Amino acid sequence: MSVYLDYAATTPLRKEVFDCYVEHLQTLGNPSSVHSSGQLVRQALEEARESLAKSVDCNRSEVIFTAGGTESVNLAIKGLFWQRVGEDSKRKVIISAATEHHASLDPMEWLEKHDGAEILWLPVDRDGVIDLDFLEDYLQEHHENVAFVNLMWANNETGVITDINRVTAMTKPCGIPVHSDSIATFGHIPISFSSSGLSAMSVSAHKIGGPVGAGALIVSRSTKLVSIIHGGGQERGMRSGTMNAPVAKAFAVAAELAVSELAEEHLRLEALRDKLVQGVKNITPLAHHTAAKSPRMPHNAHFTFDGCSGDSLLFLLDQQGVCVSVGSACQAGVNGPSHVLLAMGRTEREANGCIRMTLGKQSTEADVDAFLSALPKALDGALRAGLTT
Ligand SMILES: Cc1ncc(COP(=O)(O)O)c(C=O)c1O
Repeated sequence: MSVYLDYAATTPLRKEVFDCYVEHLQTLGNPSSVHSSGQLVRQALEEARESLAKSVDCNRSEVIFTAGGTESVNLAIKGLFWQRVGEDSKRKVIISAATEHHASLDPMEWLEKHDGAEILWLPVDRDGVIDLDFLEDYLQEHHENVAFVNLMWANNETGVITDINRVTAMTKPCGIPVHSDSIATFGHIPISFSSSGLSAMSVSAHKIGGPVGAGALIVSRSTKLVSIIHGGGQERGMRSGTMNAPVAKAFAVAAELAVSELAEEHLRLEALRDKLVQGVKNITPLAHHTAAKSPRMPHNAHFTFDGCSGDSLLFLLDQQGVCVSVGSACQAGVNGPSHVLLAMGRTEREANGCIRMTLGKQSTEADVDAFLSALPKALDGALRAGLTT
């Protein structure tokens, strides 16, 4: 059995979620059909919507089910941009940060390349903190040119949390919508859509014990966005396609469990994480704990190691049965220097030398101990490999 310390990549499907998924998979009916079979499935879907709304603290009509986090983020970014530019062609500026996940970076850059968007990248300091004073100054001068602000609630690599309430307090007087990728946050720290001031927020099921390919975009009732998928007009016309009731049900169960266990898990995982961090520091002075002083997620530990590559460490830990991440898993499993660390002013060498450990529901003290016993050998091998490359 391997030791899994990569919960930010994906999480094991929880038993309660699996049971609910399988049960609903066996029910025949299209939720848009008016006959009783269809309406039974519709009922399950609407129960899932109600339940997820409770978990994110929003109105049920604000939940738009999607086929995952990447789709939710794409719908928010393209949909908000097209809506705002359609209303006023001056509003071409998307304000964001280079530390965003590729699910955000790529659609923003696509709009820049193909559709006249201009991106304002907010400065990020060495601790991963986004310069919100800069945002405030920019909005004072140029708010009429802004399409929307796009900032993730917590960074999936470093775990650094952004003060989203401060962001929305700044944008509200100018009527600028804000979307937040909350995929690394939801189910881990308390978040409330209704009191966040956000216009849209993306969440994903497989980061919290739910199935892959299930997500939602929470869209406030006053926010309009252009759909990116056209068809039957389901999900308030924002996301056409037959709704997937079993997946929505499974997502809702995962969310309910994660949110109800959050307070306890937060403390438990934070203590485990702190043990892991201290253990790494005791093993080697070559390790640098990333963003140690910033507000961070409780289950995330991120390090750079002098003189060795994250890829080597990952491989050598994996050989000993320990799964970690270099933080920036790209297409086809090809890893490059972390774009997040580069955006935080690290050198390419430093951005190549990081690993991320993330904990979750099934993580135990024994997992942390196993990682710490495997680390010296992995470090030794990675340092030797580092010397010859
Ligand atoms: C912060 C963040 N945004 C977006 C995504 C993409 O979500 P999904 O895998 O559900 O498409 C991920 C998943 O890695 C993520 O961590």
